[in-house]
Amino acid sequence: MERLVNLSKRRGFIFPSAEIYGGFRSTYDYGPLGTLMLRNVKDAWWRSIVQLRDDVVGIDAAILSSPRIWEASGHLANFTDPLVDCRNCHERWRADKIEGACPNCGSTDLTEPRAFNLMFKTHAGPVEEDATVAYLRPETAQGMFVNFLNVVTTTRKKPPFGIAQVGKSFRNEITPQNFVFRTREFEQMELEYFVPPDEADKWFDYWLDERLRWYVDLGIPSDQLRLRHHGPEELSHYSAATADVEFAFPWGWDELEGIANRTDYDLNAHSKLSGEKLEYYDAPTGERYVPYVIEPAAGATRTMMAFLLAAYDEDEVGGEARTVLHLDPRLAPYQVAVLPLSKNDRLVPLSREVLGLLQPVCMCDFDVTQSIGRRYRRQDEVGTPFCVTVDFESIEDRAVTVRDRDTTDQVRVPIDRIAQEIAGRLGC
Ligand code: GAP
Repeated sequence: MERLVNLSKRRGFIFPSAEIYGGFRSTYDYGPLGTLMLRNVKDAWWRSIVQLRDDVVGIDAAILSSPRIWEASGHLANFTDPLVDCRNCHERWRADKIEGACPNCGSTDLTEPRAFNLMFKTHAGPVEEDATVAYLRPETAQGMFVNFLNVVTTTRKKPPFGIAQVGKSFRNEITPQNFVFRTREFEQMELEYFVPPDEADKWFDYWLDERLRWYVDLGIPSDQLRLRHHGPEELSHYSAATADVEFAFPWGWDELEGIANRTDYDLNAHSKLSGEKLEYYDAPTGERYVPYVIEPAAGATRTMMAFLLAAYDEDEVGGEARTVLHLDPRLAPYQVAVLPLSKNDRLVPLSREVLGLLQPVCMCDFDVTQSIGRRYRRQDEVGTPFCVTVDFESIEDRAVTVRDRDTTDQVRVPIDRIAQEIAGRLGC
């Protein structure tokens, strides 16, 4: 974990936020490589959930939202964690995450737990009064429920169908921890899949399988993943069944994604408070009903961290130790690094020509400094699957060397065919 946190900072994946001011309350900034990788994680999710299906559409709802939404959803009343204060050192903790003693000073003189609402409250407009209260959304889900009729009307989708959304959510977590595992600002990837009520159990099982498969397909070994079904006492106020996809984090099994049968709770709750009937009307049969919702809800930032942890490795190449990220090429920040053997006047222009051929195919890095061995190590360490090296022979034979990150095998490829070769290796 510590090595990954170091690598993240050193190589520009994730920086502690506002570091020049001493940091800011467990918030993080995504650097050049982290931004590319997080985008790849979200794109891979979107591709599997929206692009490769004809029964799911996407939306992008507002982050600043009306208190009415959170009143209906139950978040204003129920979205709380039990908070205790240490009377000795005055630190605050989540009561369910500590074992009767303050983790800071060890004192057992703690207050009784009280409900602490996790939503960030603010004011929309220049006047700070009750009428202007707004909340930063604590989940993306509600934006999809309140737009149910808009989406049905504009797309003519019929259950079973889904609405997907990727974006930021905010929770005033009492104890953010474990790097980007639990932060106050994070990104979610959520699907609300609307089904006829009598099909809910079938679709719940279907999404458990689909979602587990997604993580394995993108490179997390299946023995580092498991499904854990919630017992009745653990279920959220809206849920008839929930299972978590869990990953073997360095501190033990923990949640990557929750998959819930939210029943008709949310549509009914918004119908009641808004007075708008959120139901599905099937014109051919004349049938009207409130669909049930199966919700696979994943965290993009947390999932990116899991992909990094699963990919991290230290091995030996040619008797030398190296750190390598065995990232799936679809997730790696760069798919290719173009490396002129030296800064020579004739090599650099030819290398730029090769770069120009590859940039339309995938994300490329271009690096001319340091020895070639060191540059390979730098690329291995950030998970770049292929290095394309331009050497002095390239000037004569117009061919380059393609090196594979995992096997370190090298093959010679004509420059005319390099774009095709890389596209083929990337499967695009
Ligand atoms: N709409 C349902 C919902 O939001 P959740 O289990 O509270 O369910 C879904 O959140 C996912 O969002 C979690 O499995 C996790 O991956 C991510 N997530 C939740 N809170 C987070 C936090 N404070 N920091 C990072 N990721 C978080």
